[in-house]
Amino acid sequence: MGLFNRVERSVRGTVKRAIINHHRRSGTILFSDTTLRDGEQMPGATLDPDDKLRIAQALEAAGVHSLDCGFPASSEADVIAIRKMIGVVKKPVLTALCRTVKGDVDAADEALDGNPTHKRGVSLFCGTSPLHRRDKLQKSESEVLDLIEDTVSYAASKFEIVAFSPEDASRTEFEYITQCYKAAIDAGATTIGFPDTVGLLTPEKVREYIRHIQDNVPNVDRALLAVHMHNDLGLAVANTLAGIDEGANVVQCTVNGIGERAGNASLEEVAIALTLHQDQFGVTAKVDTTKLSPICELVSELTGIPLAPNKPVAGANIFATEAGIHQDGLLKNPDTYLPFRPEQVGAEGIKLVIGRHSGRRAVAHRLEELGLQATDDEVLEVLNAIKSVPKGTPIDDEVLRDLASESVANVQT
Ligand code: KIV
Ligand code: ZN
Repeated sequence: MGLFNRVERSVRGTVKRAIINHHRRSGTILFSDTTLRDGEQMPGATLDPDDKLRIAQALEAAGVHSLDCGFPASSEADVIAIRKMIGVVKKPVLTALCRTVKGDVDAADEALDGNPTHKRGVSLFCGTSPLHRRDKLQKSESEVLDLIEDTVSYAASKFEIVAFSPEDASRTEFEYITQCYKAAIDAGATTIGFPDTVGLLTPEKVREYIRHIQDNVPNVDRALLAVHMHNDLGLAVANTLAGIDEGANVVQCTVNGIGERAGNASLEEVAIALTLHQDQFGVTAKVDTTKLSPICELVSELTGIPLAPNKPVAGANIFATEAGIHQDGLLKNPDTYLPFRPEQVGAEGIKLVIGRHSGRRAVAHRLEELGLQATDDEVLEVLNAIKSVPKGTPIDDEVLRDLASESVANVQT
């Protein structure tokens, strides 16, 4: 290597380290969204390239740091989607998934051609657990280490931003995973990921792993640490938060938690939890929470995967209640029965659903909103009429008007 190249490489190395140090010390958590890759792996969630572009733009507007936008070596549709994003989705870093195969890195390089160097990256993964080494890869520990070293350094010769994740990390021996990370960072990885690929960890076990990595990977301060949790035990968000509490800098997650099997940690849940508990975590989530609810709806609409009514942050019931005591409290002060206000996540507003469980106050409030003046006794009569309608009948405004006009003679409709 000539003198000029050596100097250039050393300057680039210094700049990279300065950026990593800046992120590590910034007290912010970067969101790396994988809706367009891991999320799309969910059966039935296939997205067209134009849909992917719309989601990418919405995530960009929310301030997401990077987008894992596809697996170019495995899918031509992913290449088309990435090409649509080049020059259009400008703020987040666009990354492409690669196995530890040089051809995958070449395919990513081609797909991301034209994006500025500081806005394009690759995310390499390789199974490291005994199960993956023996039954999937049929490689020894040292062969897997050589593969990591070889392909990560190849990727680093083409990309400034290189992430490496030991797939099935959560079933990999502590001692061996340390060696994998060390080899990857020495070879040029700028981020190391910790994927709980089959979603089996508990928060305490995540803490043990992350502490072990921080304490035993000698060059860990030269890379960012990302956590990537699957939700097979319903613990993906809790596990992600545990990882952050132990010092992870990057969260890999998906909108609505869509993904393989039970899905991934959901971006909106992690973001709002971090925002509400900033005092506990001591870090700021780099996401505009007011964009969350609309993004959840967009992803649901484009993937065709419906949002459960009780889905945290974005489900139809999150700001709706039919219960009399809650309705009364919400009318006096919304904070009585809400952990956060609808506007904080960009949701429409509180919905007081009129039904059998409603109380006088909510009925009076709705009648008033409909321009119907009723005395206390009249409200009580309407309430009794509501309780006598067949179970499951939705009491929409039309039904409420009818009930009011039938049960209260002097109500003007
Ligand atoms: O869950 C996983 O292990 C992954 C890898 C590709 C990082 O998604
Ligand atoms: Zn995954």
